[in-house]
Amino acid sequence: MAKEHTTVFFCKECGYETSKWSGFCPSCKTPNSLVEAPKTSSPKTSVSSFSRGTSRPKPVRLSEISTEKQERFPTGSGELDRVLGGGLLPGSLVLTGGDPGIGKSTLLLQVCRNLAAEGHKVLYVSGEESLKQLKLRADRIGPFQGDISFLCETDLEQILNVFQEEKPSAAVIDSIQTMYAPQAASAPGSVTQVRECTNMILNTAKGLGISVFIVGHVTKDGAVAGPKLLEHMVDTVLYFEGDRHAAYRILRSVKNRFGASGEIAVFEMRSNGLKEIPNPSAYMLSGRPENASGSAISCIMEGTRPLLLEVQALLARTNYGQGRRTATGADYNRVALLLAVLEKHLGIAFSDCDAFINVTGGLKVTDPGLDLAMVLALYSSYKNTAVSSDLMIFGEVGLAGEVRSVPFAKERVQEAARLGFTTCVLPKSSLSADLNARGIKLIGVSHIREAVSVLTEI
Ligand code: TYD
Ligand code: MG
Repeated sequence: MAKEHTTVFFCKECGYETSKWSGFCPSCKTPNSLVEAPKTSSPKTSVSSFSRGTSRPKPVRLSEISTEKQERFPTGSGELDRVLGGGLLPGSLVLTGGDPGIGKSTLLLQVCRNLAAEGHKVLYVSGEESLKQLKLRADRIGPFQGDISFLCETDLEQILNVFQEEKPSAAVIDSIQTMYAPQAASAPGSVTQVRECTNMILNTAKGLGISVFIVGHVTKDGAVAGPKLLEHMVDTVLYFEGDRHAAYRILRSVKNRFGASGEIAVFEMRSNGLKEIPNPSAYMLSGRPENASGSAISCIMEGTRPLLLEVQALLARTNYGQGRRTATGADYNRVALLLAVLEKHLGIAFSDCDAFINVTGGLKVTDPGLDLAMVLALYSSYKNTAVSSDLMIFGEVGLAGEVRSVPFAKERVQEAARLGFTTCVLPKSSLSADLNARGIKLIGVSHIREAVSVLTEI
């Protein structure tokens, strides 16, 4: 027999659920954050469950399923449309997560403004700010036209009643952690509440064909707070990231049921709202030093988009016994590995040097295509010779010092050619006749030894 009731604890910080209490959360390690989840009185009769009547479910064949194309509507931001997979689908749920103050509310308010100007009926529900605060933000963004209304409410039942009455074509719920479903008797933001609220929004939105943007808070680790289930329930998960002190922001799709995931869009936060940056490569390279040692340009892939960026390396003699290694924007272990490869295969001793690697623009790069540029930037700093500013470098570096191919060579070379680079150092195995036609000089290398000799040749 199944047990009637098991006590469930959840973490106030990250939403982790466990049946065993302990002094700290097993997931995010926050002390004293586990609290008992209230037992819901009748989970079987939640709003999400629906009656099918007496009819039996009937499986269907693929040929019987109609696939009439659903019209997507543009959000007024070409960059956001691309991340969504070509526009917003009616009835889709989009979860937008990000650090506090990164600009989630601003982005969604701008989307609402654009949609209203296009003639859509839009509803912005805020559980975090007053109408006055919303108005102040709206005033910064610019004039609003069309059918857009605002609601400050946290009782989700009331909000969904308004959805039923108003039938907007798009809505924003800012944020899911402030929403409250009366039948799930626990505090707003708790696992039970977040799950139940999302479920209720899902049913109403799908039923009425309303596209809903849900704002989600993130935990210390940067994941959307609440149960992981939240991300499973929605159609699209977007993360808004970037350095709060820098002006640019990156919107990344980590899940997309209706398009490619991993796509990014770049925005700049200005005094009058977010402005999209359609040419991020040029933006990332602006202000780079010309002919400075330790600076190399590479091209990484973010989703299907090639992005040029600058890698800077600095080697300085240490004042302490052991040299420090610091990596900003690149993986620390990867930098340590590349330093070891350089030591071993080029015979350079770095042990008495502090080594700093910085990927400018504040991106956190995981693409191994950046390896070769990091190697050349380190070598250039060590030798105090500049890497030509017309040179773009990409390729993965293996432990034997070999340069290995990475996917999307054509896209990377094309992007470099588009921004006026004249020469590209790339893995020999990536060379192809197709690449030659791009009007850029290609230098294929198979080992880092060959790569560094290129530096002295050109
Ligand atoms: P906000 O959208 O409130 O962030 P979130 O909803 O993710 O918490 O944005 C807050 C920050 O953006 C705040 O620091 C002010 C700044 N901001 C601008 O710089 N320009 C603007 O036009 C607006 C509306 C906000
Ligand atoms: Mg906000």
